[in-house]
Amino acid sequence: MHGIIFLQLQKFIKASSSPEVFSKIMDEAKLRGKFFDATKAYPDEELVAIFSTTCKTLNLDPEVALEEFGKFITPSLLTTYKPYIKNEWGCMDLLENIESTIHRVVRASNAGASPPELVITRINPAEVQIDYTSKRKMISLGIGIIKKIAEHYNEQITISKTAIPNGTRLKVSKSAKTSK
Ligand code: HEM
Repeated sequence: MHGIIFLQLQKFIKASSSPEVFSKIMDEAKLRGKFFDATKAYPDEELVAIFSTTCKTLNLDPEVALEEFGKFITPSLLTTYKPYIKNEWGCMDLLENIESTIHRVVRASNAGASPPELVITRINPAEVQIDYTSKRKMISLGIGIIKKIAEHYNEQITISKTAIPNGTRLKVSKSAKTSK
């Protein structure tokens, strides 16, 4: 997984606890003093070790924490990948282009990073369908990212979730009240 995700997870833990608790979590995850570089990729197991220790230590529900973490990382993802986001896009346009533009750039520019292969369909101007089938089972992270993207564009959305073979289908609908 991309170093940016590790760096953000460390920030997220510090923001949700204290420097002392953060050190304890890194100790228990057997990653004491480990330095993560935003331009490199690291084993998924290390992310899982830090994340699961955090949930245990702070008594957090993993799915809720994953969604919160998704919201937390979105501002920095939007800043880092800004050159690939067109000014005229709204929330639905960005969602429609996550796979063909954004995740594709992540894959091409970061050796070792492998964002999920999302199958995205623009059903109509106000609705996007996203099929997620990654082995990592991190759909709640995606839901947090989507909610924060909508907030960024000041748009109201609803998200429905259904099971598909080996994954989850999200339908993201824009509420009629928003203007973009
Ligand atoms: C501007 C928007 C986005 C950016 C810049 C972005 C970028 C990234 C990056 C850098 C990773 C780490 C990949 C790795 O290291 O292997 C990632 C993973 C992920 N992304 Fe995105 N992403 C965006 C939007 C979304 C959206 C809308 C979803 C909704 C489903 C999503 C779902 C995920 C999930 C679930 C992962 C975790 C890895 C996995 O499950 O395989 N992303 N993304």
